Amino acid sequence: MIYPPVRLRHSLKKLPHKLKKLVNGESVASARRHTLRLLRPNRFPLEPKRIIETIDAQGFGQIRQRYGVKGPSLDWPKFLDLERWVDINIRRIREIELDLARPKRILDLGCGAGYFLYIAQLLGHKGLGLDLDQLPMFGDLTRLLGVRRVIWQIKAFEPLPDLGKFDLITAFLICFNRHKQANVWGVPEWEFFLDDLAKHLAPRGRVWLELNQEHDGTFYTSELKEFFQKRGAKIDRHKVVFNSGLLSPVSTSPVAR
Ligand SMILES: C[S@@+](CC[C@H](N)C(=O)[O-])C[C@H]1O[C@@H](n2cnc3c(N)ncnc32)[C@H](O)[C@@H]1O
Repeated sequence: MIYPPVRLRHSLKKLPHKLKKLVNGESVASARRHTLRLLRPNRFPLEPKRIIETIDAQGFGQIRQRYGVKGPSLDWPKFLDLERWVDINIRRIREIELDLARPKRILDLGCGAGYFLYIAQLLGHKGLGLDLDQLPMFGDLTRLLGVRRVIWQIKAFEPLPDLGKFDLITAFLICFNRHKQANVWGVPEWEFFLDDLAKHLAPRGRVWLELNQEHDGTFYTSELKEFFQKRGAKIDRHKVVFNSGLLSPVSTSPVAR
């Protein structure tokens, strides 16, 4: 989405809806999406019911029995609400435009149950998850879904293992940054992490990060926001997206500019 300057925004208010879309560039984007959809006609349909039908219902039922709780949960069993999480992950897939993209190699950090990679795989992408091995429920779910997973603990100032190159690296509801802890990652930790991530990214690769809300209701400090932007990120609330690689630290340093 391109945001027009304030004065233009005022005049836009007076324009009819369709004309507004044109000025905003929305029509161009939607025409692009429409064309790409036509170019990829045999893709698996992104409909919750069709996706859920592909999952072994008996196997899922056993996992639900093993780890489920009565009623809604705010804790880990919430990930057993299949309809809800399939919906959430369809939204993620559409937003990243994986439904329109050519097959990509995707690394999902903190992959949890693996729903995101599962749906991406239905669309022809190749996924690899990375996660802790703390919750047997996530182990059982990723196995059931056939999502490959590397067991690894992401730590501040420690590089990721060599897993090859990826066209897209994602992380949703991020916890590996010491979320809600006193030593939640600041600029130095993120700087090391992004520098390292760049080594795992194919040319023109994308990085899509979604942060979790901290105790004070924020997702990042203003200092961290500025740092992400200097590295080329587009920020939309909790979403921090690097569309074409991760700018090297040299180009973000004030001396180099
Ligand atoms: C809130 S869950 C989100 C799961 C999934 N990304 C989603 O949005 O559905 C956070 C995930 O991050 C993983 N995680 C937390 N700390 C981690 C660390 N230091 N290294 C790797 N994974 C971590 C957890 O095991 C869990 O799977």
